[in-house]
Amino acid sequence: MKQVGFVGWRGMVGSVLMQRMREEEDFSLIDPVFFSTSQKGEKGPDIGKNIPLLKDAYDLNDLAAMDVIVSCQGGDYTNKIVKELRQAGWQGYWIDAASALRMNDDAVIILDPVNMPVIERALHDGVKNYIGGNCTVSLMLMAVGGLIEKGLVEWVNVMTYQAASGAGARNMRELLQQMGEAHRVAKDLLDDPASSILDIDREVAGTLRDKNFPVANFGVPLAGSLIPWIDKAVANGQSREEWKGLAETNKIMGRKDSPVPVDGTCVRIGAMRCHSQALTMKLKKNVPLKEVEDIITEANEWVQVIPNEREVTTEKLTPAAVTGSLSIPVGRIRKLAMGDEYLSAFTVGDQLLWGAAEPLRRMLRILVQ
Ligand code: HSE
Repeated sequence: MKQVGFVGWRGMVGSVLMQRMREEEDFSLIDPVFFSTSQKGEKGPDIGKNIPLLKDAYDLNDLAAMDVIVSCQGGDYTNKIVKELRQAGWQGYWIDAASALRMNDDAVIILDPVNMPVIERALHDGVKNYIGGNCTVSLMLMAVGGLIEKGLVEWVNVMTYQAASGAGARNMRELLQQMGEAHRVAKDLLDDPASSILDIDREVAGTLRDKNFPVANFGVPLAGSLIPWIDKAVANGQSREEWKGLAETNKIMGRKDSPVPVDGTCVRIGAMRCHSQALTMKLKKNVPLKEVEDIITEANEWVQVIPNEREVTTEKLTPAAVTGSLSIPVGRIRKLAMGDEYLSAFTVGDQLLWGAAEPLRRMLRILVQ
């Protein structure tokens, strides 16, 4: 069995990865070794089989003994350790949730239900770095990758509604603290059916703008508001999250030579862990809606077309419905008033599953089976 090292398994993405690996009995296929940046020698997680005590995540000799290393430790760790390991001649496979190596020529972005041929070619060519994609990009491609794969899409405009989890565990907690604070200041008025909604609103607006409102992580209120900027600025007024749309989509799909333009506005909203996206696609020709739906449905086993009807849409095409599941619903599919080649769709996906942990455990399976 292959020796597989895990680093950063205690954080949010790492914990989801551990949970999914237990559910799918992945640990029965490998000899797992858990590393820690701070707790060397202590007991590792309960994974249903005996494992060695935690090893030091900075010990190059212990790391180099691994056939595969799976890291959810973050980009700084990746940047430091991978360079040192490779310089020392380590030939193992590096699977990573962080974006640090993602766009390097010697790395593949992994999303096997969408780009298995790209992964297979890379394995054949001896590529050793397999990196999870940006969550919005991965979720978009799980939803409508079939249309791009078939060469039907001229461009994609994407408007995102991204959950707090994409910013980190502390941000999820802060969102709830903000919600609690907004409720607290309005509670007495809310409890009084005769109170005025405008008085309630004034209280809530007041606390959102109060200097004591909890904004240490987001910097501004998210509850009762939204944040139309995610990550750093790059060139031309684009945020880095928006930049990733084109760059990563085309790398995942192996379309570097004939890239499909993908661009839009990325927005943080007050959902917990599901990213939603409104897509406008310009098709290369007038494809009938039924054919569009068939292509989307047949692309992978997790995508699910939701009929464009009010009741089922509001029940099934929401973060509340999708959270914690691998399901990728795509709905609101219709042609736009701009013409028969303009297709609209809306999709939701769990940012911690297909957006982060799931492609990593599936890549590990590809390597060890
Ligand atoms: N960058 C994403 C976000 C999460 O901020 O929602 C990671 O892909």
